[in-house]
Amino acid sequence: MNYLGLSKKEVSSTVKALNQLLADYQVYYQNLRNFHWNVEGENFFALHAQFQALYTDARTKIDEIAERILTLLSRPMSTLSDYLKHSRVEESDTMTEDRKMVLTALENHKVLIESMREVIEAADKAGDEGTVEMVSGFLANLEKKSWMLNAWAGTKAHPQQAMACISLKRNEVENKQRLETMLQFFFWNFRKSDYQAFIGFLTVK
Ligand SMILES: [Fe+2]
Repeated sequence: MNYLGLSKKEVSSTVKALNQLLADYQVYYQNLRNFHWNVEGENFFALHAQFQALYTDARTKIDEIAERILTLLSRPMSTLSDYLKHSRVEESDTMTEDRKMVLTALENHKVLIESMREVIEAADKAGDEGTVEMVSGFLANLEKKSWMLNAWAGTKAHPQQAMACISLKRNEVENKQRLETMLQFFFWNFRKSDYQAFIGFLTVK
């Protein structure tokens, strides 16, 4: 029985967009498990817990998206091979570097946010307020999580970029004083571990 008051044709674009979001979420979920297991370094405890909180939240949303598709009298994509085939979120390699993981999660969020907007647009056109309301809630929530991850990662230059910049400029440095001023600038703009890596780089050079 069609209890929706919407025709199957009207909801077909919404279902397609929801299945896209589902595939994206499944790969994002596995990326977070990967990060939770493999993160190393001084931020281990904070990020190990944070990635767990994120994948636990993703798991709930995955279930709600799939069940919304069923509510719309359609079938959710249900196999791992289909998710990998359709996902626009890329599957992450095994990595251990904390900052790289956070930046990858942020990239994944960008894709998810785009997919959510597509669902909202399709559902809005079909007069499907239930889907609009559900996914709008997901969207605001993910945007807030992205702000937090972005605040953690900061907007500072990556040490490698600075190293490349310094290695170019070293030839132009005329005296020790100028080099020290530059080092001071990088010291204040980097986390301690980045500064140490940078000093190591200079010593090697
Ligand atoms: Fe665990």
